Amino acid sequence: MRLILQNIKELVQVDPKSRLWVAGKSMAEVQTLKNAFLIIQDEQIKDYGLMENLSQAEYETDDVMMEIDCSGKMVFPSYCDSHTHLVFAATREHEFVDRLKGLTYEEMALNGGGILNSAILLQEMAEDDLFDQAMGRLEEIAMLGTGAVEIKSGYGLTTESELKMLRVIRRMKQHSPLMIKSTFLAHAFPLKYRNKRKEYMSLLIDEMLPLIAADELADYVDVFCDRGFFTMEETEHILKAGIRLGMLGKVHANELANSGGVQVGIKYNTVSVDHLEYVEDEEISALLGSETMPTVLPGAAFFLDLKLAPVRRMIDAGLPIALASDYNPGTSPSGNMNFIQTLGCLKYGMTPEETIHATTINSAYAMGISKSYGSIARGKVANLFITKEISSYAVIPYSFGTNLIETIILNGEIQGVADFEL
Ligand code: NIG
Ligand code: FE
Repeated sequence: MRLILQNIKELVQVDPKSRLWVAGKSMAEVQTLKNAFLIIQDEQIKDYGLMENLSQAEYETDDVMMEIDCSGKMVFPSYCDSHTHLVFAATREHEFVDRLKGLTYEEMALNGGGILNSAILLQEMAEDDLFDQAMGRLEEIAMLGTGAVEIKSGYGLTTESELKMLRVIRRMKQHSPLMIKSTFLAHAFPLKYRNKRKEYMSLLIDEMLPLIAADELADYVDVFCDRGFFTMEETEHILKAGIRLGMLGKVHANELANSGGVQVGIKYNTVSVDHLEYVEDEEISALLGSETMPTVLPGAAFFLDLKLAPVRRMIDAGLPIALASDYNPGTSPSGNMNFIQTLGCLKYGMTPEETIHATTINSAYAMGISKSYGSIARGKVANLFITKEISSYAVIPYSFGTNLIETIILNGEIQGVADFEL
């Protein structure tokens, strides 16, 4: 199958060099082509260029061919959302209401609400129902422009339920057109282990991780390293165990306090450290000498009204930044990466160009897929979206709450809602 997109008003995030990430000052520059074409052959981007250089020979193919006229419309690589918890049993709006009345997230989280509440509901839910609900969320984010997503366990907390979550994610990988990475997340100590932390650590390390590895259920191992959750030392033990079993690391770090999670992540060469509200010069220097992607989750900071990660300082110091949605029922009940761009601009002082890199190539790096996703380059997987007729690319973060995306292409195929119905 050959698909030719023609008369594209602006083809955005073109990168002939296929960089694996974009850092510092370079984040302010996004390469685009005006009045462009793009050719998709099977699953891949075959070629792109200016309309005046589109050769007639491209139309002479034995393959099935389709043309799309993109006059007035722009084409972007799909978003890569490198941090979500989108397999969950139920929404938690009652906690949202409690917070409006004055309770804090930490108070609820440490008293049986929050993650522990999600765990009880998830343990009770049938695997098929979890799968159906989560597939619905994938459809929702795909229509908002996401083409690759990382999904974590961590609402199971028991061996049985963590495995159940990871099996659901594996099934999603098999049934969804999105590229999916799965992560085992050590998320919280269940109440009954509050005073028996060593026992729970042993359950995680000696029971859960080996079973997960034996079935190849997780690409990554992640730990919530923060005040009231896992300590630096505990995080280190879990990361080390997961890495020994063939997983790569990630860390939830410094959301509620300076947890030391950034340094632990760097020590274990994790692909990313995520959240980063409490980051100082020390963490910035450590990140500068590393291959770990600093990942900020504006949805959670917005929803919980947290102190903001010092993104401007980090980029000005030369770091790359990835932005992800953190889609989950407690701290960020939305997977809308367009809105994440809006927050990046308005709350963190990023330019639209910086948010484009942060939600495409840098977030692709943060899920280990930036060789094949996250920019427009020959040979990359054809995951992209065509907008409605728009005036400029800055109108996407500007138009918060409005979906300006018209057509979704994943793996070279135009997606309709029907593709998500099983
Ligand atoms: O990334 N910070 C830790 N975990 C999730 C939220 C968990 C929840 O409240 O359900 C997060 O924000
Ligand atoms: Fe998270």
